This record gives sequence, structure tokens and C-alpha cells, in this order.
Amino acid sequence: MTAVRVLTGITTSGTPHLGNYVGAIRPAVAASRQPGVESFYFLADYHALIKVGEPARVQRSTLEIAAAWLACGLDPDAVWFYRQSDIPEIPELTWLLTCVASKGLLNRAHAYKAAVDRNVEQGEDADAGITAGLFMYPVLMAADILLFNAHKVPVGRDQIQHIEMARDIGARFNHLYGEHFVLPVAAIEAHVATLPGTDGRKMSKSYDNTIAMFGSAASLRKAVLGIVTDSRLPGEAKDADTSNVFQLYRAFASAEETEAMRESFAAGIAWGEAKQRLCERLDAELAPMRDRYQTLIDDPAGIEAILLRGAEKARALAQPLLANLRHAVGLRPLLPTPASANGGDSGTATSNNTKPPSFKQYRDGDGLFYFKLMAADGRLLLQSLSHASPKDAGVLIATLKRNGSAVLAHAAGEGVRLAETVIGHLPEDVAFDELAGAITLLLAAE
Ligand code: TRP
Repeated sequence: MTAVRVLTGITTSGTPHLGNYVGAIRPAVAASRQPGVESFYFLADYHALIKVGEPARVQRSTLEIAAAWLACGLDPDAVWFYRQSDIPEIPELTWLLTCVASKGLLNRAHAYKAAVDRNVEQGEDADAGITAGLFMYPVLMAADILLFNAHKVPVGRDQIQHIEMARDIGARFNHLYGEHFVLPVAAIEAHVATLPGTDGRKMSKSYDNTIAMFGSAASLRKAVLGIVTDSRLPGEAKDADTSNVFQLYRAFASAEETEAMRESFAAGIAWGEAKQRLCERLDAELAPMRDRYQTLIDDPAGIEAILLRGAEKARALAQPLLANLRHAVGLRPLLPTPASANGGDSGTATSNNTKPPSFKQYRDGDGLFYFKLMAADGRLLLQSLSHASPKDAGVLIATLKRNGSAVLAHAAGEGVRLAETVIGHLPEDVAFDELAGAITLLLAAE
């Protein structure tokens, strides 16, 4: 059985809070213990530079996040646990990918678009204050993922687009230079709750409503007492499902404890009492980890050594892959090498626009089935609608191949309408004629 590679990065821009624990650390540590899984967890400190301009904070956050993961039981010998900036192959791959990534794709990234929209709204220049780092964020992230040929990338919903971009960029590279990369999918854990913060919105640093994972027992208590509740009095029945106190309790309690709490809510438990019980439950889970965390934090050299060992282990995989990629793109020594001496690719330039396109079928993070038509140079020509089964998608591909010319013989306008409603959509930069031409080429080649 080949192992499934699971990889995710944690941006080192803050102090770990309970939302990080419930949403990322706890499920990741549990997943890393499953047989047949190879886990790659890394501290995304290059990504942190895009958002944080305070060097001391980047360093401190790296220490705290590394200590948090280790305190929560991550075994660095059983996984790949490293710091992004210790792997020079990542920025090197970022450049190779930059050279194939389409700028139009990056223009459509949510984070960049949101920044542009804000500028336009405020009457500023569209790109005012936007760094090239923010613009290139998805390419760096694609390099993180593709370098280790990860199959699954557990991320929050806000990151799904980045995984799709990694796949697009990887596919384009594969088409141009050969099959080097596994194309990753986003893994969204449906049963992992988003934790409410103290004000009831999603717990997030940007809302300033977080509860630190490893504050003192006293500061934990203070944060819990500050959780917003309604004004029901002791003795009045309370609705568990709309209560932040209950949601937080549930994320840490067993099924039986949760049921008992639900009954107490119906029986009119006082808010003070409910918060007291939440405090006790949190403390029971966090106290042992808090002690380990403190020991780790007090020994930064120990953590540094763990990260450097992790980097060595990661580079053992990254270096050979990158050597292949360098060769593939033509960054080669000038002496005859075995690969070029016996032919390899002979270096004759082949024209892309006479090579037929190909269909790619895949299953997406939403569990549905899709296909794409990719030009020989990796450009996306057609993106399908979703299908319930691979067979449904396959039937449509077969129809397109069989009747493609008939379907597309309609007037261009009609053909576009048909493509969009039945088959899928054309990317903004693909003209209908180009799609028709590609399908004709495909038919001719088969
Ligand atoms: N962008 C991710 C976030 O903000 C962090 C990240 C960086 C990442 N590189 C990654 C996540 C690679 C998954 C895979 O959450």
C-alpha cells in the first residue's frame, strides 16, 4: 500500500489559540498517528513575512507554534516537522513555478482581489500598498505542496482556492515538462467544528476574540468569564445550541458530558456556573499540555535542534526532486550528461499549438467529479460542471470526443451557450474559437 501524504503549513504570525487547537492541531496530531499516512507539518515563516513586518514577532511565533504542536503530542520522529525557511528548495521551486503560473490566475486570488477592491472603494490606486509578496502568495504555497508531492492538504475553507491554484500550476508544469507532480486536493474536515470566539463570531486573531491556548489558568478563567451570553437569569431555561459557552464546552467534552451540560442548560443553570464548568473542562485538557509547553518554550535550543533535524529529513526528499526539475526545465550542466548523451529529450523545439489537448478527470475536495480540457502547454481550456460520479463525467467526455465537431459546429454564440450550460465554462482568457480548435485537434489525433 502506498502511503497517503498529508501536508499543511501554519503561518507563524501569532500566538496559538483554542481555535487553532480544535480546528487544526488536535485533528492533525490524531491524523499523524494513523497507519498509512505520511504527515508533513511545517511552520510557514516565509508566508508570515507577507503579513507581519515585525521580525521579533515572526521569531516568537515560530517558537510558540512549534512548542504548541510538540506539546500537543506531535512526534517529530514519526512525521516531517520543519520550518519552511530551512528548505532552500522551496523558494527555488517557487521560481520555477512562477515561470509557468499565469498572471491572470493570480489576479483572481481572493486575498489579492479583496485588497484591490478595498483600494478601489477608497478611491486609491488599485494596487496601492499591495506587495508582490501578497500577489505571489499562492505560488509560494503551491511550491510548499508540490515539492513534497502531497495528496491531501487539510485547510480551512478560506484556503481552498489556493489548493486549486497549486493544482492548476502543477498541472501546467506537468504538461510542459513531464509528470513530476502529484496534483493535491484540499481536505476539509466536515466534523471539525469552527470554534466561536468570546464574542460569538468565529474565533480568530483578526476579531480579537481568541482564548490563548497556553495562558495561565487565571488568564484562561478571565477569558471564559468574558464570553458573551444572553441575559437569562439563573433558573431560566437556556438554549444550548445558540450558546457560545455550550459550543466551546462541547469541543472539549465527551458525548456524555455534553449531554449532561445540555440538560443543565434546559434546567436553567446560571451562566456563572456554566462558565465555571467550562473552565474546569478546559483546564483538565490543557493543564498537562501547558506544562509540557512551558518546558519546551524554556529550551529554544531544543526546539531549534528538532526543526533542523526535520529540515534535514525534508530536504532528503526535496533535493532529488529539485535536481530532476532543474534538469527538466533545462537548467543543466554544459558537459554531456547521461540523460542528454543517450537522447533524453533531444532539445528539438516542438510547437505547442499543434499538440492535441487532453482531458483530465479528477475528484475535488467537495467529493464531486470534474474534468478539464488542458492545452498541451498546460493552459486550462474548459472547466467542467460538477458530476455525481466519475462515470457521468466520463460519458460527457466521450460525447464531446465523439460529437465534438458536431456540437461545436453551431454558430460560435450557440456553441458558447451550450458549453456553459451543459459542459462547463471557459476561462476568461480562452476564446471560444480556441476551444473549438483544440477539440478539432484532439479529434484529429485520436
Ligand atoms: N496559507 C495557509 C494559511 O494561511 C498556510 C500555508 C502556507 C499552507 N503554505 C501552506 C497551508 C501549504 C497548506 C499548505 O492557513
